[in-house]
Amino acid sequence: MSIITLAGSPSQRSRSSALLRHAAQRLRARGLNISELGLRDIPSEELIEGHYTGAAAAALRARVSSADAVLISTPVYKASFSGGLKAVLDLLDEKALAGKVVLPIATGGSPAHLLALEYGLKPVLSALGARHILAGVYATDTQVRVDDDGQVHIDDDVRQRLDDSVDRLSDQVLPRGIVVNEAFDLGRLALAGGFSV
Ligand SMILES: Cc1cc2nc3c(=O)[nH]c(=O)nc-3n(C[C@H](O)[C@H](O)[C@H](O)COP(=O)(O)O)c2cc1C
Repeated sequence: MSIITLAGSPSQRSRSSALLRHAAQRLRARGLNISELGLRDIPSEELIEGHYTGAAAAALRARVSSADAVLISTPVYKASFSGGLKAVLDLLDEKALAGKVVLPIATGGSPAHLLALEYGLKPVLSALGARHILAGVYATDTQVRVDDDGQVHIDDDVRQRLDDSVDRLSDQVLPRGIVVNEAFDLGRLALAGGFSV
């Protein structure tokens, strides 16, 4: 079993990437093979100019293709997911996420954009063939902090929701390599986060 993480923030001290790394560590502790990918792993001109036939895009597609599950994190930018992440997703094959379990993670300045995962990212993941999208994890800036020295602080509530989602993902990819369909459950996500939608 192999899992790829895709960090969609351009920020050096990224909150969403911190959540993603926490998830990756938990999966490693369960013995899963994790490969990490970020926006800086692809030359920016290839992203901006959409070099679909370039070497970086080919390497990206090969890595995603070999993964059983994909964890994707993003900041909320202008009420949606980041443009950098969209540029990466645009380099993937048409059905690149078919048959894979996908866990979306986002951080935003405000709880008001909790639904950005649902109306912004989820349709794009579906267009890429994803049919097994786990309940996403959304946290606000007050719930995740990254100190100047890189130390990460995650509120207990967010940590618990993230750990639960990660455990569900590993349960689905570990036993038989067969995935179970789970609807993206926004009601549960909203309740767990204590936000009104
Ligand atoms: C250009 C820009 C646009 C943003 N737009 C929103 C927004 O529409 N809604 C929101 O809740 N937060 C917004 N934010 C705040 C970020 O989503 C928030 O700080 C997030 O945690 C950053 O994640 P990162 O540290 O992983 O980059 C914006 C931040 C930036 C830099």
